[in-house]
Amino acid sequence: MLRAVVCVSGGGTNLQAIIDGIKNGRIGNTEIVRVISNNKNAYALKRAEENHIPSVCISPKDYADRGEFNRAFLEAVQKASPDLIVLAGFLVVIPEEIIAEYRNRIINIHPSLIPSFCGTGYYGLKVHERVLERGVKITGATVHFVDEGTDTGPIILQKPVEVKEDDTPEILQKRVMEQAEWIILPEAINAIAEGRVEVKNGKCRIRKDGKDRDNG
Ligand code: GAR
Repeated sequence: MLRAVVCVSGGGTNLQAIIDGIKNGRIGNTEIVRVISNNKNAYALKRAEENHIPSVCISPKDYADRGEFNRAFLEAVQKASPDLIVLAGFLVVIPEEIIAEYRNRIINIHPSLIPSFCGTGYYGLKVHERVLERGVKITGATVHFVDEGTDTGPIILQKPVEVKEDDTPEILQKRVMEQAEWIILPEAINAIAEGRVEVKNGKCRIRKDGKDRDNG
């Protein structure tokens, strides 16, 4: 059984997609052992409670400095003994000691086709605002492993989504979630749980039905 810790900051619709995926069998052999939020008001915490998943809030605001917060966060992760850490709309920079300890065992969902519209300052609705400002016709979502950079780790899965003329950032965000995020995040977790995901030379490969699929 893959022990997953899911980190959240807000609404938690991606957390919900994982919970639903485990229930409906799209994600096999996986258990969410803990939800960690940096925001005590995150609706994601309610979703965890409703589904009887242990949760904890570790907020940088409650610690004297970043070092103390990082230690508390690491402890909260370690206590759950995870095989996989899923950043599902988690808007806090992951401390380097956690990245080192859980190398290629932390994944993130990002609401664009990396390397477009990603990096520092690109999160949540801001990504979709910039997509519309630039006038691109195709956007999408990416699941990737987390390394020391911002959105620079090996790419596991991507899915494109059409941008429409009358889109607002909110409408586009919803379409990207429905047509991409809530599909590829469960798919990536399932592939990891089945031991089909490997990283070599900074690129990710998913073995599928006996065949190799290179997503690098
Ligand atoms: C999602 O769109 C996710 O891709 C994004 O935050 C949203 C969280 O929604 N993450 C980032 O922008 C990370 N850079 P949710 O709380 O409903 O899952």
